[in-house]
Amino acid sequence: MNPLTKPTPDALPRKASGKAPLPDHLRRLVGQVVDAIDTPSLVIDLDAMERNLTRMADFAKKHEIRWRPHAKMHKSPALAKLQIAAGAIGVCVQKTSEAEAMVAGGVQNVYISNEVIAQSKLARVAALAKVLSAQGGQLAIAVDSAEGVSRLAAAMAGSSASIDVFVEIDVGQRRCGVIPGAAAVALAKKINSHSCMRFAGLQAYHGKAQHLRSAQERRAAIAVAVEDVQYTRRLLEEAGIPVELVTGAGTGTLVLEAASGVYSELQAGSFLFMDADYAQNDRDPAAPKFEHALFIKTQVISVQADHAVCDAGHKSHAIDSGMPTVHAPDAEHALEYFNGGDEHGVLRVAPCGGRLPALGQFLWLIPGHCDPTVNLHDFMIGVRGGLARGQVERIIRVEARGALT
Ligand SMILES: Cc1ncc(COP(=O)(O)O)c(C=O)c1O
Repeated sequence: MNPLTKPTPDALPRKASGKAPLPDHLRRLVGQVVDAIDTPSLVIDLDAMERNLTRMADFAKKHEIRWRPHAKMHKSPALAKLQIAAGAIGVCVQKTSEAEAMVAGGVQNVYISNEVIAQSKLARVAALAKVLSAQGGQLAIAVDSAEGVSRLAAAMAGSSASIDVFVEIDVGQRRCGVIPGAAAVALAKKINSHSCMRFAGLQAYHGKAQHLRSAQERRAAIAVAVEDVQYTRRLLEEAGIPVELVTGAGTGTLVLEAASGVYSELQAGSFLFMDADYAQNDRDPAAPKFEHALFIKTQVISVQADHAVCDAGHKSHAIDSGMPTVHAPDAEHALEYFNGGDEHGVLRVAPCGGRLPALGQFLWLIPGHCDPTVNLHDFMIGVRGGLARGQVERIIRVEARGALT
């Protein structure tokens, strides 16, 4: 065949979903042993992931709190539906296009926990609200400005659907959100003045608190957030506006929000895969014990006198939260990973001792930050039975990869 007329991946026959079918090499991988997985690849330890899911579901049940996990982490409707089957009320997303991917994948309860301002995006938000309401589902969105409410109302005008709107208050993140108190009351009134929207409650997410290393620091930060919520809720109730739901929390602090008596919904996402960064937090004994479930499988391609080199660089894992850690079966095999560029990782023996890996050896990296790592891959390879001797059970497409708008 003339190479110029050979079908490119983009020209592959498309399935009804609009996505290209699974590449043959991935389809053939299902049922094979882990050694058959090419490198570098993104791999889910399905047993560990499911244990995390069960622990989260049990935790939420014990605390009688709703959970709406953040799907910006895994970007997969298939995993979102697994979470919903385990008891989640729906999922959060951060972007309109992530919401579209979730709805296209059959998720019925989607909360865009972020501000959307562009009219072009709001038109898509309104269209999604209509699709979901026709299916008996529900779309929700966050706002933090009067202008944002007006723009959303303009986009929803004439629609038979309605949208749930949360007012975001800034409880310490210093990102989006109005100052707790009167500003939130004014926004709630404005929301309720439009028949196409319903004031659904408050979003009070404190992202910075997730990564404070000591449990004491995290407790102090969330105590302030709780006071901010209580104060804002009191003003809203005095104005005759009930606050049905307070939503927030991430993996680092969910135990605190759950115990606060103020939050009624947890948005944590990373608990499902547990990145290396979260492992550096002092563990709160009351928090569920989540395990690492997401790995980069990599291979040693060069061994030198004092270091080895593997084939996974920062094109296969994000490094915004630091380098990945190397999963070691025991101290003898403890290695440290150093940045070797976009295609390479440099491995040195960890200070606790150990020895360099052999040429060709497979290693497993635990990414520093799961969300942007997942976004670097088209597929996640689900393994059952452990990383040493398990088998590939399923391939999970990262449907919302690159869904940034
Ligand atoms: C608004 C919001 N909610 C929830 C989360 C989930 O946090 P985590 O993945 O750390 O559990 C995030 C993460 O950045 C977020 O931005």
